[in-house]
Amino acid sequence: MTEKEILGWLEQVQHPGKEDKDIVSLGMVDAVHADDGKISVTLAFPKRPDPLKNYLVGAARAALYRNAPGGTDIEVNTVVKDPKPARKTVMDLDLSQINNVSHIIGIASGKGGVGKSTVAVNLAIALSRLGYRVGLADADVYGPSVPIMTGTEGAVPDALQDEEGKELILPIEKYGVKWMSIGYFSQPGQALIWRGPMACNALKQMILQVQWGVLDFLLIDMPPGTGDIHISLVGDIPMEGAVIVTTPQPVALADVEKGVNMFRNPSVNRPIFGLVENMAWFTPEEHPDERYFIFGRDGGAQMASRFDIPLLGQIPLVQGIREGGDAGEPVALGTRPDGVAFLELAGKLSDAVNR
Ligand SMILES: Nc1ncnc2c1ncn2[C@@H]1O[C@H](COP(=O)(O)OP(=O)(O)OP(=O)(O)O)[C@@H](O)[C@H]1O
Ligand SMILES: [Mg+2]
Repeated sequence: MTEKEILGWLEQVQHPGKEDKDIVSLGMVDAVHADDGKISVTLAFPKRPDPLKNYLVGAARAALYRNAPGGTDIEVNTVVKDPKPARKTVMDLDLSQINNVSHIIGIASGKGGVGKSTVAVNLAIALSRLGYRVGLADADVYGPSVPIMTGTEGAVPDALQDEEGKELILPIEKYGVKWMSIGYFSQPGQALIWRGPMACNALKQMILQVQWGVLDFLLIDMPPGTGDIHISLVGDIPMEGAVIVTTPQPVALADVEKGVNMFRNPSVNRPIFGLVENMAWFTPEEHPDERYFIFGRDGGAQMASRFDIPLLGQIPLVQGIREGGDAGEPVALGTRPDGVAFLELAGKLSDAVNR
């Protein structure tokens, strides 16, 4: 349990006497401590007696019990003190560069290798072909793949200073999309080793220090997994929601569940616009009309209904998609059936987001 998580739970407690604002944004949470199996929270009340004091202490305790793992020792104390202004996040983030972005959408999955980056890159190009202004931030600081997949390996982003002297990075533009990746700042083939907090900051920089300009969509190719980095990323970047990528086999179900839970957890709580079933079937290059359901049939549809999210699209496993990624010429640029599948996906996503 992190302090941030606990604050998220306390945000569920509204003050009925203050227009139902929550106790966190009212600045009433004076201290939060979390140790193994123990949470201790101190609520601040002003000198003037608050008739709802007992109610609020009880409501805070109930919110903690509701969210904390069973068996956690929970303590809610009070202190007499004028509430301090609400603190937002640990680090003060400058969100000015994403102010003109309409929709920030995370492309996530519970596990690696399911084709997240392939879907993200092709989706970005497809959205741009539909006339939207699109950017993509490669948030995979461990294994950035966007430079290779877009044929922008070796490109060096320009830097400039804004009016306040803050350094901004210009994204690389190609195929009608603005791309940013930590891969542009390292030598090809050189492994990047980051420790947790550093990885987290590098990643936020990749998103917040970039001059994106006016965009309809900013896609974020999330790193594989559902750990702290993810929660922190989704919490600090105003992501509107997510798209979850999966393969159809039943063993992927548990990973999809982790991905879904990450966005539905109370401190994150963002909508999931839909599921993309990648490698839904195999179609041989020389027999474009044949479909082989090598990972099972309708797995994506079943997962979608199980988690009550729409199935946004199905992408086949075809050699051209892999080759397009390796050659830096994504299939979404063309008009073959696999490219058109991404255009359809882009249409469905923009519908889901605009709804
Ligand atoms: N539908 C597809 N048809 C053919 N090849 C595919 C398809 N989707 C992905 N691939 C290939 O599978 C490999 C893994 O895909 P990708 O890198 O997009 O996965 P990822 O989920 O982003 O992986 P990571 O977890 O490492 O970030 C790549 O070589 C890619 O070209
Ligand atoms: Mg990837």
